[in-house]
Amino acid sequence: MAVPSLADLLETGVAGRIVLVRSDLNVPLDDGAITDPGRIVASAPTIRKLAEAGAGVIVTAHLGRPKGEPDPKLSLAPVAERLGEELGRNVQLAADVVGTDALARAEGLTDGDVLLLENVRFDPRETSKDDAEREALAEALAELTGPDGAFVSDGFGVVHRKQASVYDVAKLLPHYAGDLVTAEVDVLSRLTEDPARPYAVVLGGSKVSDKLGVIEALAPKVDTLVIGGGMAFTFLAAQGLGVGTSLLQEDQIDVCKDLLDRFADVIRLPVDVVVADKFAADAEAKTVPADEIPDGWMGLDIGPESVKRFAAVLSAAKTVFWNGPSGVFEFDKFAAGTKGVAEAIAATTADGAFTVVGGGDSAAAVRALGIPDGDFSHISTGGGASLEYLEGKQLPGLTVLEA
Ligand code: 3PG
Repeated sequence: MAVPSLADLLETGVAGRIVLVRSDLNVPLDDGAITDPGRIVASAPTIRKLAEAGAGVIVTAHLGRPKGEPDPKLSLAPVAERLGEELGRNVQLAADVVGTDALARAEGLTDGDVLLLENVRFDPRETSKDDAEREALAEALAELTGPDGAFVSDGFGVVHRKQASVYDVAKLLPHYAGDLVTAEVDVLSRLTEDPARPYAVVLGGSKVSDKLGVIEALAPKVDTLVIGGGMAFTFLAAQGLGVGTSLLQEDQIDVCKDLLDRFADVIRLPVDVVVADKFAADAEAKTVPADEIPDGWMGLDIGPESVKRFAAVLSAAKTVFWNGPSGVFEFDKFAAGTKGVAEAIAATTADGAFTVVGGGDSAAAVRALGIPDGDFSHISTGGGASLEYLEGKQLPGLTVLEA
């Protein structure tokens, strides 16, 4: 990527300066407890390097999708604590985004201090469609850094958003790509530029409509496109099969038919399905062939024969990209498909393939199922961002760094 990097910034000397870092610390929470700290762990190295080089570091990040006003449930407080543990240094949390507390704390920063601003989406200007509103927030963020400030863009998971702390602020300060953004772009560009073959992509997750762009972009380029998860049922319906009460996007059936016609030699669908009598962890479950889903039952996972076939494809692959769980892995009874796929990808990594897990849900699945991060070549911190990158879209948070 032809943009200045963190190393370039460090070379200019940061001791005594204030550096604003945009990180993606949008981690899943359960009752206020962080269930997967992956994004915090991945964001720490850039912050650590800056603090160790003597910068005062101000981190800005979002959590969830608050409605442009403070929401205590989406405070970054638990994140500040976890980030402090990861960095091995105290992380102050400002009570506001660019208000009096943020300003006072920013003015008090000394070399090596780390200050996390409160959830930037508590300020409605962050996500505003009005350029002037976003620019006003960006100016306030830039002002926190004082006269010799700099901006490091390190929130890869959010670079597809044209938001004040991602896009507009980069126009106001000398800007640099953080190590995480650089690493993510390097990995994803390996998937788009001349990947080693065979190249297999595994897609899952609930909605086919969210994945159409990436299917259109990747199907012509890959050797195999494996489809599981809730989105598989719209494809099965497009083949004329009954899908019971499974998740179905009726308005996408024709689109799926067209994709199946055009990419018949590439797309692989489940041949069996674990069905349930209700959407619940304690549902009654049974495995049936994909063309025999009973009325009144819903598919919540791919079956063992599908796992076997998908694993065979994956074991031959030299490049794999996986986005989206194959079933409702949060319920033990319906986790075997996702686990089987994850283990097959891990095995192919061990055989020397280049394997990338993309997306918040797939990364969370890997960790929830207890599979070590090191069993994959790379676990991306980007969900929507990695998909949009692979679709070939221009990502505002990256293009702005080139200017
Ligand atoms: C993500 O979770 O994919 C990123 O943090 C972006 O969040 P958003 O989809 O709410 O913009």
